Amino acid sequence: MSQESPRRLSPATLALHAGRSWSPERENSPALYLTSSYVFENAAQAQAVFAEKEAGNIYSRFTNPSVGQFEERLAAMEGGERALGTASGMSAITTLFLSLLSAGDHVAVSRSVFGSTTNIVNTILPRFGIQTSRLPLADPQAWREAIRPNTRLMFVETPANPTLELGDLAALAEIAREHGVLLAVDNVFCTPYLQRPLEFGAHLVVHSATKFIDGQGRVLGGAIVGERKLLSEKIFPFIRNTGPTLSAFNAWVLLKGLETLPTRMERHCDNADKIAHALNESPELRGKVAFPGLPDHPQHALAARQMRRFGSILCLELESRERAHAFMDRLQLATITANLGDSRTLVTHPATTTHSRISAQDRQEAGVTEGLVRFSIGLEEADDILDDIRQALAAAS
Ligand SMILES: Cc1ncc(COP(=O)(O)O)c(C=O)c1O
Repeated sequence: MSQESPRRLSPATLALHAGRSWSPERENSPALYLTSSYVFENAAQAQAVFAEKEAGNIYSRFTNPSVGQFEERLAAMEGGERALGTASGMSAITTLFLSLLSAGDHVAVSRSVFGSTTNIVNTILPRFGIQTSRLPLADPQAWREAIRPNTRLMFVETPANPTLELGDLAALAEIAREHGVLLAVDNVFCTPYLQRPLEFGAHLVVHSATKFIDGQGRVLGGAIVGERKLLSEKIFPFIRNTGPTLSAFNAWVLLKGLETLPTRMERHCDNADKIAHALNESPELRGKVAFPGLPDHPQHALAARQMRRFGSILCLELESRERAHAFMDRLQLATITANLGDSRTLVTHPATTTHSRISAQDRQEAGVTEGLVRFSIGLEEADDILDDIRQALAAAS
């Protein structure tokens, strides 16, 4: 397959073919390169490869063919020039911040982001002299006003975990362009199948591949996607030296995950759509279901504009923490766990788990209430999940 052809193919085809390559054994399923280092013909070749006068693998902290295949396929699916794998979603985000920002720089971050991202912004970046602002995701004017002469990066998560609030990618990209600032988007809830932020003008995309890209809750992984020059000059050297590396085994699992991503996402979305609409129509839950596909979601039109479909995360707003916990404890199919994007339906109480280690004020600003319950709808039969939710609600009332 030529280097140019993948971009013109449809997502389902890219997921199976982009970045494919064969070893001399001509294996049909991708080979797994479990090796820390690579053998040189002689000392002179080692010198030439280290000096970048000759192409070749050196050491799996920064070059590994299994990781390379995953990176190429993900880059093609996001419409980016290059992707770099990392050990987890958080290592992708940490790498992004620390490779692009220096002491004295300013970064603007949306308020409603994953708990660990909030902690990096609040407690780690300031220790290195990096200034931070946390801004309302849905208010582009607030972002315009927050840009300072030393702002280097805008970082958003859309839809946000767990509130499902959206950022307007085109409007944010316009502000970034006007001010010569980079815009990075955490695309975990959508995956490249549902949303391609680079097409709206974002410069960088980050992923926790741990979620839908794996899709079966097996391994951790992450990635950064964007312009080749930026990734090659700023981010690759940081990874090479500091080692937040994606393991070859995990990359191989994730590469296989990408192959089925479009098909899985279609079914995830079908199920979530059906369940969200059915719950929202029940008198008990009307107006208490958050899902971008519902016409009463405040940003439904924006979601329809920038997402292919509406994803598989939905939230219920119950009256209190006690009621949320009682409801979750009575679910029989959905399992209580701190993950999302699995083939099975998962349920989480963010205020006491994923967002428990940020301050009460940050939780409030991020919209994480005590009664909020997050579902990651899986691939089961939708009616079975719906029945499970209904029986748990009845039993907990
Ligand atoms: C939106 C989002 N970004 C980043 C992460 C971090 O990913 P990882 O757990 O792979 O480090 C998560 C984890 O839940 C997430 O939900």
